Amino acid sequence: MTDSFVIAIDGPAAAGKGTLSREIAEQYGFHHLDTGLTYRATAKALIDAGLPLDDEVVAEKMAREVELAGLDRDILSRHEIGEAASKIAVMPAVRRALVEAQRRFSEKAPGAVLDGRDIGTVVCPDAPVKLYVTASPEVRAKRRYDEIIGKGGSADFEAIFEDVKRRDDRDMNRADSPMKPAVDAHLLDTSEMSIEAAFQAAKSIIDAALSRNA
Ligand code: DC
Repeated sequence: MTDSFVIAIDGPAAAGKGTLSREIAEQYGFHHLDTGLTYRATAKALIDAGLPLDDEVVAEKMAREVELAGLDRDILSRHEIGEAASKIAVMPAVRRALVEAQRRFSEKAPGAVLDGRDIGTVVCPDAPVKLYVTASPEVRAKRRYDEIIGKGGSADFEAIFEDVKRRDDRDMNRADSPMKPAVDAHLLDTSEMSIEAAFQAAKSIIDAALSRNA
């Protein structure tokens, strides 16, 4: 047991959980870990070393060497790293290694916000607050598209939409720790909600849990 207050935030890519998690961590002065970056860092280490993405023994070794302190969002956010990450995320040995590191992180006082796919179900099943942040595949693809166009890039909406659906399918249908809401998670559908409205909804859930814990 530790004195850390854990906020578990799960949901598919581009539903807004990253922004929401960072804002919550800042609001409450808690540590924050985007657990997707741990899968991405493992995949990048394999790619950089010229190693295959389908060898579970090698991938587990890399996963055990990932330093949570040095995760660089800008470098790790590249599309091909995300694709590679979702391939190694199906491997039980990789998941075990990364989940151990994520659990150690969750014990940091005074509290920790962890976001991912299996935080409320597997990594921190006893978290006093669990949120499942989602949005329709169309809305998530549109957000991705707008983000790329906003940065001056070019993008193909249909290709992004297909990619979002393929990634969801892989995350939801893998045998080990598939993405799904914990039975006691609060669902936040951000399809028609601003990030500010989502933050306020999350804040009232967290404040209620904090006063129960006090
Ligand atoms: O959220 P993201 O796109 O950075 O995640 C990268 C991949 O890692 C994605 O396919 C889902 C997987 N992932 C996971 O399986 N479990 C987590 N807790 C976080 C991410």
